[in-house]
Formats: sequence, C-alpha cells, structure tokens
Amino acid sequence: MTHEMPRDTGMDNTFKILKDGYMYIMNQQERFNSDVFETRLLGQRTICLTGEEAAEIFYDENKFQREGAAPNRIKETLFGKGGVQGLDGEAHKHRKAMFMSIMSRENLQHFNQLFKQQLRLALNKWERKDEIIFYKEIREVLTRASCLWAGVLVEEDMDKLTDEVATLFESAASVGPPHWAGRMNRNKLERRIKGLVEDVRNGKIDPPEPSALYNFSWHQDLDGNYLEPEIVAVEVLNIIRPIVANAVYINFLVLALHKHPDELKKIKTADDEYTKMFIQEVRRVYPFFPFLVAVVKDDFIWRDFTFKEGTLTLLDLYGTNHHPKSWDNPDTFNPERFRDWSGSPFSFIPQGGGDHYLGHRCAGEWVTLEIMKTSLDFLVNQMDYNIPEQDLNLSMNEIPNAPEIELIQIRKK
Ligand code: HEM
Repeated sequence: MTHEMPRDTGMDNTFKILKDGYMYIMNQQERFNSDVFETRLLGQRTICLTGEEAAEIFYDENKFQREGAAPNRIKETLFGKGGVQGLDGEAHKHRKAMFMSIMSRENLQHFNQLFKQQLRLALNKWERKDEIIFYKEIREVLTRASCLWAGVLVEEDMDKLTDEVATLFESAASVGPPHWAGRMNRNKLERRIKGLVEDVRNGKIDPPEPSALYNFSWHQDLDGNYLEPEIVAVEVLNIIRPIVANAVYINFLVLALHKHPDELKKIKTADDEYTKMFIQEVRRVYPFFPFLVAVVKDDFIWRDFTFKEGTLTLLDLYGTNHHPKSWDNPDTFNPERFRDWSGSPFSFIPQGGGDHYLGHRCAGEWVTLEIMKTSLDFLVNQMDYNIPEQDLNLSMNEIPNAPEIELIQIRKK
C-alpha cells in the first residue's frame, strides 16, 4: 500500500524557497520528520529529497534522468546548453570520460603549479595595497590559472574576464539585471571560445595536450563525430567557471580559520591527514551548491511513496551534509569527524554523490581539493594578514554565499 507524501501546502512555495534558501528543504524535513515531501515550485509539483538514502535513489539512473530537468534560466547562465549536466546513460558516460581525460595526476599537478605561481604574483601586488577584498582578488587568481590550464583566453584583460566568468555562477539564482548580465556574458564567452575551437581544428593554433581546449576540440562522440564548436565552448566553460567558483570555498577557508582560532593553531603544524580533514569539514559545513534537479524517469515506489514519471525532483546537498542520521552535532565545526571516516559516497555530497566516472558527481572534485590544500597552506604559512572588524555573517538565502571579506596588512611570511 502506498501513502500520500507529506506536502508543503500553499499554491506555490517559490517565494518561501527564495526566503529560506539553503534551509528550505531541511526545515520541511524537520517539520514532517520525512526525507521526502512534495511542494510546488515555479507552478510545478516538485518532490524534495534529503539524506544519504534519498541521495542514493536520486543517483539511480533507472529512476531519475537529467534531460529536461534544469530550468532554462540556469542553462542560460550557469550550465550552458548541450553540456554534460543534461545528458543521461551512455551519452553521459562518454562525455564524462572526456572531462576525466584531463584529470590525471600529472595534469592536476600542472594546474597546481600554475595556481601557486599566480598566488605568488598576486601576493606581490597585495603587499602594496592598504586593503583588499579577498573574494574579488582570489577570483582573478583562479581565472588566470584556469585559462592557462584550459589553453584559452590568456591574453585577455583579466580583470574584465574575471567579472564575466564570475557572473555565470553569481547570477544564476538572481533575477533582473544581474541575471541578464550573466546571460550576456555567457553568449560572449561561448562565442569567443567557439572561435578558438575552430582555430584549433583549422590548424591555426595548437594548444597543449592535455588541456580542455585540445582534448575537447578533438573529442569524438559515440558516432565518431567531433562535437559542435558551440558545445565544446560550453564544456570548456564547464572547466573555467567552476574553477573560478572555488573563490567561494577559499573564502570559507579564511572564515573558518578566523572563527576557529584553535584550528588555526593546529593547522600551522598539521600533517596531511588533518589538513585534509579540515578541508572536508569546510566543504561539509559551509553552503555552496544548494540542490540538484532531476526528473522521475519511470513511475516507481520508494518508502511507500509513489514517484510519478516526469515529476521534477530536488536533492538537498546542504541538508544531506547536515543530516542528523549521518552527522553527530551537524552544525558544529569539527574536522575530527573525518578521522577514520567511512561514510558512503552519498552522505557527504558538497560536489554531488556517487561515482565520478559513471554518474554526475562533480568532474572537478580533485581540482577543488588541490585548490583548497594549496590555498590553505598559502593562507597559513606563506602570508600574514589581518581581518579588521566587519560583518562576517553568512546569509542563508544568498546563492552563492560569498562574504566580501576585507583583509589588511598583507605581508609575505
Ligand atoms: C567550488 C567547488 C565546486 C563545487 C561546490 C562543485 C559542485 C558540483 C556539483 C554539486 C555538481 C553536480 C553533481 C550532480 O549533478 O550530480 C557538479 C558537477 C560538475 N562539476 Fe563541479 N563543483 C566544484 C568545482 C568544480 C571544478 C573545479 C570543476 C572543473 C575543473 C567542476 C566541473 C564540474 C562538471 C563538469 C560537472 C558536471 C558533471 C556531470 O554532469 O557529470 N566542478 N559540481
């Protein structure tokens, strides 16, 4: 026998989700004491899921598909059209392999070298300034490193390019002019990269192998055809944009060190294992990517609830990383919880769950871990800075959520 899903009543709860932001699904989960409930968003019946078991279901390709799930406004800014995020089945695995072809140990080390070099150059500049807005500065460092790594746009006015790339993720959840700026910048960037793809194919330029521009330009689909240049451009931006978005995570490192002075002391002499635990805890505690969307593929029943084909479904990432079934005192910042941690790939999902090659889990998770490790070492061992009195509260309904921390008295160590 099946039951009715608990339901957040109301004609439409879009306004509520905008108001509660990262907390919306968690709040309803507590209210109904259920990891599944239904609501109405943007005029559509929508199922919300949270927690490890629900995440495992969400990643079952027989139950959910990505095609037709992402709203147009997200494709116009964040994702682009025709990219890996909206593919399913074999077509997805084949495209994903293209991404993973640039994620070898050696190529990750190459990225790391570029990133370190850009950090050192930036520090020379910061030393000469009275104050910096760290988020803005680090975004530019990441834009430079990512473009060098991807083999594109390095000759550009980097300040402007950084703003253009950042609007792709900063504007995704906005409305009005910021959203339109995101769309405009996406069109412009895609057009420029498409031109570079054509130049690669015409033999005018020869980017290094491996690099996103090289590997993606010469990637063949399942029928043996090269991808449309527009699609290559979308996928190259699927490398650059999220690397720049790591500025949000690096900002969280600064916040975590500032809010937990004992941790700062520990990190100064920490071994690799503790450093990694600290980084995992930052990724678990702080909010970034709020939830994922998919569509029910065929009718199925789970926990006595019927999931109807075609129903839009959200998986709560923030809530799963704070779910009381998986995490003791989920709101406490405690890197020790990751010592000998044997969690499943579905309980800790800041960058998605499951398998990197077979499913949609973030293709750049290892790049992110490199970036965070290098940044943490840089912040703690290579530079001195002070954080003057300022409002460092995180708002839970701004997506993304990157406080513009002001740093002063910046010096090399
Ligand atoms: C700020 C750090 C990052 C966060 C929080 C993040 C988060 C995510 C999330 C939540 C997904 C969706 C997983 C799913 O749909 O199941 C994803 C997918 C993806 N990410 Fe990341 N990501 C980050 C960094 C990166 C980096 C550095 C890259 C590339 C170098 C990258 C490339 C991708 C790609 C290509 C996908 C699509 C994968 C697929 O659909 O199969 N991400 N990311």
